[in-house]
Amino acid sequence: MSTATAAQQALLDARYGKTQSKPEPMIWTPQVEALLSHKSVRTFLPDALPAGTIETMVAAAQSASNSSALNQWSVVAITDPVLKQRISDTVARSVPADRIPWIEEAPALLLWVADLSRGAEMTRNSGKEPVVFDYLDSFLMASIDAALAAQNAAVAAESIGMGIVYLGVMRNIAESLAEMINLPQYSFVTFGMAVGLPDNARASSIRPRPAQPMVLHYNHYEQGRYRDYLDDYETVYQAFRERQRMSKKNWSGSVVESATSMDYMAGRSALRETVQMRGFKLK
Ligand SMILES: Cc1cc2nc3c(=O)[nH]c(=O)nc-3n(C[C@H](O)[C@H](O)[C@H](O)COP(=O)(O)O)c2cc1C
Repeated sequence: MSTATAAQQALLDARYGKTQSKPEPMIWTPQVEALLSHKSVRTFLPDALPAGTIETMVAAAQSASNSSALNQWSVVAITDPVLKQRISDTVARSVPADRIPWIEEAPALLLWVADLSRGAEMTRNSGKEPVVFDYLDSFLMASIDAALAAQNAAVAAESIGMGIVYLGVMRNIAESLAEMINLPQYSFVTFGMAVGLPDNARASSIRPRPAQPMVLHYNHYEQGRYRDYLDDYETVYQAFRERQRMSKKNWSGSVVESATSMDYMAGRSALRETVQMRGFKLK
C-alpha cells in the first residue's frame, strides 16, 4: 500500500468524479495507473500504425487466460482501406447516425472472432462430430475468450501510445461482415476495435464510473444498494457530458433507453438466427 501521488489522486478524481466516494486504500502500480487512465478514442490521426503494433497487441491478447487452453478465438485485422471503408459504410447504414467517422479515421480495424472453426474441423478430421459445439456454453466460452484477448490487446495498445474504441456495432452487420471477410462456419465476430494514434486535440476525457458500492459486493449480493449511489453518479455523469459538450442525457435515462428502444438494437434483434446460421446451434 502507498499514499497516492497527486497524479494518482487526479486519476481517481477523473474515474469517479470529484464528488463521489473513492476506493481506498488503493495499491498503486504502473499497471494500475495505466488501467485507470483508459479512455475510448474516437478521433485518430491519419498516421499508419507503428510497425509491430498489431503483432504486439496480438501477443498480449494471446497471453490472456483462455478456456481450457483451447485457443478458441481469432482476430481479423482490416488494414485495407477499401475494405475498411466498405465495412464502415455498411455499418453506417445500420445506425441512426449516418456516419461513424472513427472507423473511417482509424488506420486499422480489428475484428475479434469467437472461433470454434478450427476445433470443428480438427474434430471432423478425427472422424467425430463436434456435438459439444452445439451448446450455448461453447459459444459463450469462445465469446468470453475473444473478449479477454481483446482487452489485453487494448491495454497493450494504450501502453504504446495508441488509442482504441470497441465496436459492438459490428454485430449490426454480422451476416454481411462474415461474408466480407470470408469467415468460416463455427465462427462469429463478437465486436470490432478501431485502433490508431489518438488525435489528442479532439480527444475526450476519462469517463467517470459509479462509486464502487454500486458494483462491488462482499460475500453476498446486496440487492437494491445501488439506489443509494444513483444520485451522486448522475451528478458526475451529467457534468462529464456537459464538459465534453455531449447532448444532455442522464444515466438512468440511458439505461432505460437501452432496455426499451428497439432502435438501440439496430439490426441485432435477429442475432440468434444469424449466430445459428454461422453454425452455432445455441442449445
Ligand atoms: C463490447 C463493447 C462494445 C462497444 N461498442 C461501441 C460502439 O459500437 N461504438 C462506440 O462508439 N463505442 C463502443 N464501445 C465503447 C463504450 O461506449 C465505452 O467503453 C464506454 O462509453 C465507456 O467509455 P470509456 O471506454 O472511454 O471509459 C463499446 C465498448 C464495449 C466494451
